[in-house]
Amino acid sequence: MLDTESIPKHVAIIMDGNGRWARQNKLSILRGHNAGMLRVKEVVKESDRLGVKYLTVYAFSTENFKRSSEEVSGIFSLVCKFVDSELDEIFENNVKVGVLGDIDKIPENAAVSLKRAIDRTANNDGLVFNVAINYGGRAEITRAARLACKEIINDIGGADAIDRKSLLSRLCDLNEADLSKNMYADIPDPDLVIRTSGEERISNFLLWQIAYSEFVFAKEYWPEFTPDVYRRCIEEYKNRQRRFGSR
Ligand code: FPP
Repeated sequence: MLDTESIPKHVAIIMDGNGRWARQNKLSILRGHNAGMLRVKEVVKESDRLGVKYLTVYAFSTENFKRSSEEVSGIFSLVCKFVDSELDEIFENNVKVGVLGDIDKIPENAAVSLKRAIDRTANNDGLVFNVAINYGGRAEITRAARLACKEIINDIGGADAIDRKSLLSRLCDLNEADLSKNMYADIPDPDLVIRTSGEERISNFLLWQIAYSEFVFAKEYWPEFTPDVYRRCIEEYKNRQRRFGSR
């Protein structure tokens, strides 16, 4: 049994390996993603059971648009299917849904589904479940910098009224907190990042937030990521010593 004290507060997951799992099992890629979607359901439930407070899953990167249009539309259809079939239960379990990424540029039905999930669960105060979709870490940081600069300009009194000296001095004072508060969501940094499928890279995921995260790489493909495998990853995390740069 896992002791609750050292359970990571925020777990972020790079769900990798749906395609390889499908090939291995002689199934279509979309069958692989469908099997992956079923694992998402379980991981949400298991996170809640374990006492994880924030769960963020990487469902679709900005780069994933380079895949075939059939695969891309299939993944977004699965997101709609997930919301349609799971939203009632998610709501009843007090889960609060969030989205990280630019959802203005995803197919409209997926954006509408996700907004429905966000609105319906807005007042829940249990597990926060974030879906990173059309998400890129560099884009998030760039956007945060742009928004922070806009805030400064607005504070000073609008673009026309600005005097160069005070603008420059405010811009030079930009700090980490100014950027942090302009990220897609106000969430704590992940304590644990899990990537499945044996690949060991970050793929533009939460670049700002993972500065001191622990990483666990599981060899299983995402459709094989059972609650048991999840608990094993958390056990591995618990054996880490986190020093955040100190001795
Ligand atoms: C990575 O596997 C997986 C994806 C790019 C898509 C993940 C999407 C889902 C699990 C569907 C629904 C999501 C939610 C949140 C309901 P891959 O295709 O890159 O695998 P490969 O590297 O083996 O080809």
